[in-house]
Amino acid sequence: MLDRFEVEGGKPLKGAVTCSGSKNAALPLMAAALMAEGVTTLENVPDLADIHTMAMVLRFIGADVKLEGGTLTIDASNCRSSEAPYELVRKMRASFYVLGPLLYRFGRARVSLPGGCALGPRPVDLHIKGVKKLGCDIQIDAGYVVAKAERLRGARVLFDISSVGATGNVIMAALAADGVTVIDNAACEPEIVELAQMLVAMGAEIRGIGANRLEVAGPARLKPVRWKVIPDRIVAGTYLTAGVITGGSVTVNACRPDHLTMLLDKLDEAGAHVAIAGNSVTVSVEADKRLKAVDVTTAVYPGFPTDLQAPWTALMALADGTSIITDTIYPERFSHVPELSRLGAKIQKELNSIHIEGVPRLTGASVMCSDIRAGAGLVLATIAAQGRSDVLRVYHMDRGYERLEQNLTSLGAKLNRVRE
Ligand code: UD1
Repeated sequence: MLDRFEVEGGKPLKGAVTCSGSKNAALPLMAAALMAEGVTTLENVPDLADIHTMAMVLRFIGADVKLEGGTLTIDASNCRSSEAPYELVRKMRASFYVLGPLLYRFGRARVSLPGGCALGPRPVDLHIKGVKKLGCDIQIDAGYVVAKAERLRGARVLFDISSVGATGNVIMAALAADGVTVIDNAACEPEIVELAQMLVAMGAEIRGIGANRLEVAGPARLKPVRWKVIPDRIVAGTYLTAGVITGGSVTVNACRPDHLTMLLDKLDEAGAHVAIAGNSVTVSVEADKRLKAVDVTTAVYPGFPTDLQAPWTALMALADGTSIITDTIYPERFSHVPELSRLGAKIQKELNSIHIEGVPRLTGASVMCSDIRAGAGLVLATIAAQGRSDVLRVYHMDRGYERLEQNLTSLGAKLNRVRE
């Protein structure tokens, strides 16, 4: 369970990998499948721990769920329970996505509060505020959100912070409401666009998809569909950054370059060569060229994704010059920083920013992951570092990266999983 990676760093990565389907898109789509009686089929679903956790949540509710070769079938005909238990929600916050679908299906829901998170405080107040606006009664009982609604009514929901999860939940609950719900400051992330588009294919009427004002018409009668999940922009971004940090040349196939614009701009600014051809992106760095330091501030889409902040920090640790990275989405998401220092990185933290003085080389050491993307940053740093490293607690990465070691090894990285 507490597997680690043994890494022998310092080899430029070369070659091509195929991007997997998006975990963060698949999770709300899985929850949305609860809203239609019958069999929903999702294709291009990555085989990841988080997907299995959501499958367990759906099974708890009564759905029949099977994942075979990237195709997930969800038969939601016999759902009876309106509960998502603590044992599952504490494993993965995204389980909270069932709140909206359960309200749609049963007019009630009992969903555990997610509890603590390695990224810092991550409340669900906006989800709650949103469904309350639709007329839902909410009580907190023994760590659970207990939601009840005889009838939901369309309303205007204005989020004070743009939230991916809260937008998804309110869209889904609003499909049970009488009348139109207007969501302002809605999340515009590709994963929310994907959810809205699948709901439209299921029979929903949603206007403004991709913009920050959504109009959701209710009540909607939804039917099951077959749907192909979009490629994972964070996975694609991680492999591209891996190519650049090792001074190599990496192609990511089957991705959506239009979802990666900000990262590709930043890589270009840092001095990497970026080439887009259809659904493929190739990045490369001239031999012995050191990248330039480039500042990054995370922001909602299409801004720089917070989920690529740790990989970017690793890249800047080796860049020529000083850079500042600010995380406006998760101001405390810097657990990778002390670990990067163990490899020789020079980083100072100040509030929600870090100041990085790039060094010419990192040196192998033991480091420990504390969340999916911090882990990705550490793996990138260790494959670029000189000598041997151990990356501990890779189970965090198993939540978000399918076949990580196989893909990196196929690109020439020397990396072994040690099962413990
Ligand atoms: C999703 C992604 C996660 C990504 C994040 C930001 C999934 C499964 N996870 O998480 O990988 O890092 O978007 O792009 O898709 N907030 C509140 N109250 C709430 C909800 C959120 O204050 O009720 C705050 C959060 O603490 C955070 C910000 O809003 O500061 C954005 O969070 P949100 O967009 O909700 O992230 P998630 O949907 O949880």
